[in-house]
Amino acid sequence: MQKKLNKIAKDTNFFLKKFIVRQKKSDLIVAMKYGLFSGGKKIRSKILVDIGSIFKLDYKTLISIGAAVECIHAYSLIHDDLPCMDDDTIRRGKPSAHIKFGEATAVLAGNSLLTMAFEILSHNNLRIHEKIKIDLINKISESSGHLGIAGGQYLDLSYERKKVSFKRIVDMEIKKTGKLFSFCCAAPLIIKRKNKKDIKKFEDIGADIGLLFQVADDLIDYKGSLIAAGKKTGKDKKKGKATLISLLGYKNTIKYAKDLIFKINIELKKYGSKSENLSETLNYILNRNK
Ligand code: IPE
Ligand code: IPE
Ligand code: MG
Ligand code: MG
Ligand code: MG
Repeated sequence: MQKKLNKIAKDTNFFLKKFIVRQKKSDLIVAMKYGLFSGGKKIRSKILVDIGSIFKLDYKTLISIGAAVECIHAYSLIHDDLPCMDDDTIRRGKPSAHIKFGEATAVLAGNSLLTMAFEILSHNNLRIHEKIKIDLINKISESSGHLGIAGGQYLDLSYERKKVSFKRIVDMEIKKTGKLFSFCCAAPLIIKRKNKKDIKKFEDIGADIGLLFQVADDLIDYKGSLIAAGKKTGKDKKKGKATLISLLGYKNTIKYAKDLIFKINIELKKYGSKSENLSETLNYILNRNK
C-alpha cells in the first residue's frame, strides 16, 4: 500500500512541477510550491486512481485530475492553519505557510492554488471532451465552496465550544473533508459518462470515505504524536472542536469508523476483485498515524 501511495504521490508531484514550470514566474510560486511539495500523502489522488482503475481509466488522466484535487487540498490546509482559523504553526513537520511566508502571502498562495485546480482541469493538455471538463469543473467547484470545504470549515469554527448533535457533526465533517473525496470518486464516472444515479452512488461512497478520513484524522489528534503526525496533536480538545470523539468517546468512535469501512465495502462488493485496491486504501486510512 505505502509503495503504491508513494508512486502516486511522486507522479502527482511530477505532473504539478511540470505544470508550474510551463507557466510564467511569480513571487507567490515559492509559497505555493511549499504548500504542494512539503510532504503530503496525496491520498486523494490514490482514491482517484483506485476508483479510476475499476472503470479502466487511463492512469495519466487520473494523475492530472488528482493534481487538480491536490491543489485544492493544499490551499485548504494553508488556510486551515491561519490564526483566524485553527491557528497552527506546524504542518507536515515544518512551519505552517503563514509562519514561513507571512499571513498575506499564505492567503494569496492559497487562493492561487485553488484557481490552479481550474487551470489544470480546463487546460488543453488534458485530453478529455470539453463538456466533460465543464462537468468536472462544476463538480469540483461545488465540493470546494459553501456546500463543501469552505462551508464545512465555517461550521467547524462556529461549532467550537458548543454542544453539537451527532447529525450536525457528521454533516460538518462531510462538507469540510468528504466533498472533495466525493469528487474523487465521481470523477471517473463523469469521464465515462455514466448515468446520474451511478454518479450519485459514487459521490455518496466518496462522502463516506471522506468522513472516515476526517474521523481518523480526529483520532490522530486525540491519540497521535507530533513526531509521527507532523502536526501538533491534542489541539481539538484544547480548542473545543466538535468531533465524534468529543460526543461518543474514543472507543465508540473507532467502532463507528470500522462500521463505516464495513458499509463502504458492501457498496463495493459488486465490483469484486477490481475494488481490492480501494478496500486496502480504506484500511490504511483508519490505521495510519499521519
Ligand atoms: C489533513 O489532510 C486535513 C484533513 C482533511 C483531515 P491530509 O492528512 O490528507 O494531509 P496531507 O496532505 O497528507 O498532509
Ligand atoms: C481540516 O481539518 C479540514 C480541511 C478541509 C482543511 P483539520 O483542521 O482537523 O485538519 P488538520 O488536523 O489541521 O490537518
Ligand atoms: Mg480545521
Ligand atoms: Mg486544522
Ligand atoms: Mg485534525
